Amino acid sequence: MELNNKVAIVTGASGGIGREIVVQLAQRGVSIALAGRNRERLSNLQAELEPYGNKTIIVVGDLTKEEARQALVRQAEKILGPVELLINNAGGQQMALFQDMTEDSIDELFQTNLLAPIQLARLIIPTMVERRAGRLVNIGSAFGSLGFAGYTTYSASKFALKGFSEALRRELTGSGVGVTYIAPRGTKTALNSDALYNISKKLGFNFDAPEEVAEQIVKAIEEEKNELFIGFPEKLFARINGLFPGLVDSGTAKQTELIKEFLTKK
Ligand SMILES: NC(=O)c1ccc[n+]([C@@H]2O[C@H](COP(=O)([O-])OP(=O)(O)OC[C@H]3O[C@@H](n4cnc5c(N)ncnc54)[C@H](OP(=O)(O)O)[C@@H]3O)[C@@H](O)[C@H]2O)c1
Repeated sequence: MELNNKVAIVTGASGGIGREIVVQLAQRGVSIALAGRNRERLSNLQAELEPYGNKTIIVVGDLTKEEARQALVRQAEKILGPVELLINNAGGQQMALFQDMTEDSIDELFQTNLLAPIQLARLIIPTMVERRAGRLVNIGSAFGSLGFAGYTTYSASKFALKGFSEALRRELTGSGVGVTYIAPRGTKTALNSDALYNISKKLGFNFDAPEEVAEQIVKAIEEEKNELFIGFPEKLFARINGLFPGLVDSGTAKQTELIKEFLTKK
């Protein structure tokens, strides 16, 4: 996909990975609607983009709410034009033992990580299909292919986002509209707690810089990739888990114990 002069919506633009995606799209001449809940962070980012000379707007809102999703699409289309790239990047995390989760926290996670991206796609895909052009990009996770202790609901939301991306991509074959599913491994952003970073070596978790992750995401969009799994050996584990989940049960037993101990002490 040639990015110059395209119109994009990037959700979670105020976050670690979102910010870097936005900067790299701006460098390629994309007009961008920056979506998030934090006006100040979005305004600061918009100011940083000024030297690139792109058209940008900020749209503040909680994307778990239908009105906020409608307003985002309406304003992007009205001010920037038909949206050719939707990057569903906003997401939340819930690292906790399943038994400690509440009804509300589970609902909120699925609203943010799964239902908001699907509903936003529903608002935009028909216009893309009509124009026979466009790409939907869903940011999943390595835990969307490998269920991990302490991440039960997060894993479930990302597995579902992966399934949605795959099914929609197949449904849209021949329509001129593409779907890209991206699975980053750990990335150094505020999504993870300092406490987790402190024990990450013990857990064997690897973390990439958000700039590097964004670079790979933007490259995957330019190359119109269907899927991208970031990081080795995580991408290999995802495949092994698909074929031999029992092997991964025993291979991750030590990490599972450490995570349970970590979450029990919290
Ligand atoms: N960091 C990792 O280790 C990692 C690994 C794999 C995948 N990912 C995925 O990468 C994506 C970006 O994560 P990140 O690490 O950049 O996290 P982050 O720094 O915490 O940023 C998350 C972004 O999502 C936005 N957001 C959350 N809930 C929202 C809502 N209800 N309405 C609107 N915006 C909302 C946040 O907006 P506010 O500023 O308003 O809070 C923020 O801009 C997520 O989908 C995450 O699951 C992250």
